[in-house]
Amino acid sequence: MNTLKHLAIIMDGNGRWAKERGKIRSFGHVAGAKKLVEITKHASRIGIEYLTLYSFSTENWKREKVEVDFLMKLIEKFLKQELKNLMDNNIRFKVIGDMSKTSKSLQKRVNLTIEKTKNNTGLTQILAINYGARDEIVRAINSIKKEKITEEDIQNALDTHTLPDVDLMIRTGGEQRLSNFLLWQSAYAELIFTDTYWPAFSTQELDIMIEKYQKIQRRFGGI
Ligand code: FPP
Repeated sequence: MNTLKHLAIIMDGNGRWAKERGKIRSFGHVAGAKKLVEITKHASRIGIEYLTLYSFSTENWKREKVEVDFLMKLIEKFLKQELKNLMDNNIRFKVIGDMSKTSKSLQKRVNLTIEKTKNNTGLTQILAINYGARDEIVRAINSIKKEKITEEDIQNALDTHTLPDVDLMIRTGGEQRLSNFLLWQSAYAELIFTDTYWPAFSTQELDIMIEKYQKIQRRFGGI
């Protein structure tokens, strides 16, 4: 049976979920944030070690300013509200992505959350904020000061350098693509897609996916 150390999720479908209910997109993002709390708690309970969540991509800046502002504020509010929960559940918080392009107040909140939770020993929750895998790889390579660069050099310079490779990548919302998420780290990840919109995703559906993952024969290029 495969062990599941690192689960990554592309939380897609907030907007369409809201639209189906005759609501505006931000309503879907709020529901998405609540779902994130529920799924994180469940992941922690079932012993997953690392959970990485695609929260805002380098491409998401192309959305209307009101939506971008709303998402950024929502992430900040979420971090403020969640601190107690993270501490109570022994969850360590990390972030990946280029935070330098986000607001000072979000950066402050992120750094505070990382600092306060750094000695927690349970699940590590990683939010990808202003994250794009190509951007991450370019930043990593530019930070390496040597001529002949190895895989290990790149690995060690990525935002995810302290994390193991992704074992299972889940995408909700019906699309079957990676959308620039953890491209390096998912080289051998199993991929599972579902039509369920993120706010409608459930712990039961996650459990079924994990069961499926556990039975897959992972060969990592071997036979
Ligand atoms: C995709 O829905 C969702 C995102 C833009 C990223 C995920 C954001 C959240 C779960 C909101 C809260 C996040 C945190 C960290 C508190 P979409 O808008 O692309 O949906 P659509 O494809 O149906 O339009």
